[in-house]
Amino acid sequence: MLSCKAFLTLLLIALLFSCSNRESHVEEEKGLKDFYGEYFPMGVAVSPRALSTDEAGLIVQQFNSITAENAMKMGPIHPQEDEYFWKHADSIVAFAERNKMKIRGHTLCWHNQTPAWMFIDADSNWVSKEVLLARLKDHITSVVSRYRGKIYAWDVVNEVISDKKDEFYRDSPWYKICGSEFITKAFEYAHAADPEALLFYNDYNEIDPVKRKKIIQLVAGLRAADVPVHGVGLQGHWSIYEPSYARLDSALTEFSALGIPLQITELDVSVYPKEHGRRERKPEDDLTDFTPEKDQKQSEAYKTYFEVFRKHKDVITGVTFWNISDRHSWLDNFPVRNRKDHPLLFDKDLQPKKAYHAVADF
Ligand code: GLA
Repeated sequence: MLSCKAFLTLLLIALLFSCSNRESHVEEEKGLKDFYGEYFPMGVAVSPRALSTDEAGLIVQQFNSITAENAMKMGPIHPQEDEYFWKHADSIVAFAERNKMKIRGHTLCWHNQTPAWMFIDADSNWVSKEVLLARLKDHITSVVSRYRGKIYAWDVVNEVISDKKDEFYRDSPWYKICGSEFITKAFEYAHAADPEALLFYNDYNEIDPVKRKKIIQLVAGLRAADVPVHGVGLQGHWSIYEPSYARLDSALTEFSALGIPLQITELDVSVYPKEHGRRERKPEDDLTDFTPEKDQKQSEAYKTYFEVFRKHKDVITGVTFWNISDRHSWLDNFPVRNRKDHPLLFDKDLQPKKAYHAVADF
């Protein structure tokens, strides 16, 4: 009879073996990272859970860069002022290191998924600018230092530009309390914590000509003031209906003029017309089948987007997909709760879709 200790040791060995096997059984097959080897790293946003499922093998086969979908955001990683929760972020970093993948950090300062304690004092009044900046500094210093030398690039500030045509900055609690100074400070704190890390400003709807200009103005202004901003993250939450080749090409050309690297940081291609705000369900939202027409249109859209990315390979230093497969995407619950979307290159059984071939074969 095996002793209990010997049994547990064997069990542990078997578990470790099955885990590494999940990650390596498809290692020999080529994937997107190989087809784009001469262009840019190909990345994916993940949850820690996905790394212990059959998705792990697909990730290792296809991608050479990883981002935490949620685990490094302020709320999840810093739930209380004196409490950090590292477990999930650490497991993603460990997975990437085991598999020799690059790691993009996301994100240090954002108006969403911020912990409730951040903006208020013990009496639930809003804190002063000094207190908020001190909290931001503590947060950024702790998170960036922990992964110093492991995370090569950080989305430092996320989405501070307003979607309203006549408003420049988003009117968030950060802005209300600090004015625009928190933006400069966030980059300075991150740079002090890891001087080697590449620091990005990241935003969405960058294809809109008005918003695009504002993002460029913001980044150009920061750089002119010697703020350590090294790149622009263009999220790329697009749809099968937009952008066109011409619009994407002109957006990338204009961003290129900043003279710093660009990364597509959150790519997905919804099968619905793009909407940037949450809304109530309508009857037509029940039509969620992934029809052959949608399949075809999506493959054409992905083909176009990657044609433009390859054209701008001199300035694009990374493309990251926002989620792995159609098994799960944040778009299943945005802009409408519980409306299935199919925005990625792999279906829910992890099989490559038509769109995969449109990206991989060029
Ligand atoms: C934004 C954020 C991401 C993510 C997506 C939706 O783009 O930058 O972190 O929350 O929304 O998943």
